Amino acid sequence: MIPVDRTRIVVRGHRRDNAHVFKVTLKTSGRQFSVVAGETVLEAAQRAGVALPYSCRAGVCGSCKATLLDGRCEYPRNPPLALNADEQAHHAVLLCQAVPVTDLLLEAREVTSVEDIARRQLGMVVTEKWPLAPDVTGLRLLPARGERRLKRLPGQYVDVLLEDGKRRPFSIANGPQADGMIEMHVRHVAGGGFTSWVSSTLKPGDHLRVEGPLGTFVPREDSERAMIFMAGGTGFAPVKAIVEHFIALGTRRAIQVYWGARVAGDLYLRALAERWAGELPNLAFHAVVSDADGAAGLRTGLVHEAVLADQPDLSGHDLYMSGPPAMIDAAHPRFLAAGLPEERLYYDSFEYAPDVLAQIIAGRAGIHDLPLP
Ligand SMILES: Cc1cc2nc3c(=O)[nH]c(=O)nc-3n(C[C@H](O)[C@H](O)[C@H](O)COP(=O)(O)OP(=O)(O)OC[C@H]3O[C@@H](n4cnc5c(N)ncnc54)[C@H](O)[C@@H]3O)c2cc1C
Ligand code: FES
Repeated sequence: MIPVDRTRIVVRGHRRDNAHVFKVTLKTSGRQFSVVAGETVLEAAQRAGVALPYSCRAGVCGSCKATLLDGRCEYPRNPPLALNADEQAHHAVLLCQAVPVTDLLLEAREVTSVEDIARRQLGMVVTEKWPLAPDVTGLRLLPARGERRLKRLPGQYVDVLLEDGKRRPFSIANGPQADGMIEMHVRHVAGGGFTSWVSSTLKPGDHLRVEGPLGTFVPREDSERAMIFMAGGTGFAPVKAIVEHFIALGTRRAIQVYWGARVAGDLYLRALAERWAGELPNLAFHAVVSDADGAAGLRTGLVHEAVLADQPDLSGHDLYMSGPPAMIDAAHPRFLAAGLPEERLYYDSFEYAPDVLAQIIAGRAGIHDLPLP
């Protein structure tokens, strides 16, 4: 990723006046939807029930990358930080930030499996809170009295709605349950308002309001390829939900699970992953720690380097990864260089919430100099 100066992202074209509605056509499926003035392509698609991939919704992770085949758009909110100069020159756009100023023809991936699932808000009550690791808190929540359970797919996330109108995204660490229970693994961020409150003050019986399901990090079942899952820190949460889904399906596809953390104690559900590997002949688990002093006999190094050392040719795999932005940014180009087609790389980057990223970007702070999750 390179920093982009917002003032340079002025796109010339035949701009209609603001009252106009623009039409977006997706080349592969031929589907069309309308975008009203000021709306991003992603917002308009969601309103129209068309599921396009996304994760951070702030222009920094690149999950929503698509190719603009015709038309013009601009970036009045955040600049497209996830696009490098080469991608911009080749007409790549970020759907979570791109606001059309003409009709558009786009080449974009669609995630039809999440399309029928309506997103909504509901009240939930905390039923369990427990320490998973020194800086990670486990939470279980049930729908509050009178609320219906959330329909969702494994791997999706919810926004926790805060009293000041802000939102904080957290992955759901379990698959859908009959009683609507959701599990979360919340890492305490130094200086972070919500995660500090979760670790210090939140208690069973407290109520939280959430909106979901969100995100397109979900199982892809239309494939027979071997799967690699790579998690960093609490990125294990959605990986756990998706792996458990494939286990429950009785898949025979080969599954390699890599989990990276700084020290062994941060691999807070290692026993669970080792149990999967012990019980299933098609599943292998690899724990990797970056700090040799805290390795406790485990493999050391960066987790994506471990994947590449074991699997130098990724052309025959589907790869799911989730965790800190630094891990996602480092792994992404390396995995593509190892032959993994971009459309088979599925990821959630655990960025801060869009409002925080927008403030940081607007303040021109170097977002990657901050203590990202
Ligand atoms: C799709 C998705 C899924 C996620 N899933 C998980 C998960 O399962 N588990 C998990 O642990 N995390 C997850 N995250 C990350 C999680 O959402 C963040 O860690 C969380 O939002 C932090 O909230 P907070 O209120 O504690 O911190 P915030 O208050 O948002 O602050 C974050 C950091 O930014 C700094 N900051 C705040 N405002 C500014 C500013 N204006 N200028 C400069 N610095 C500022 C703060 O000091 C702090 O260091 C996920 C993120 C995404 C996008
Ligand atoms: S860059 Fe658009 S969803 Fe992250």
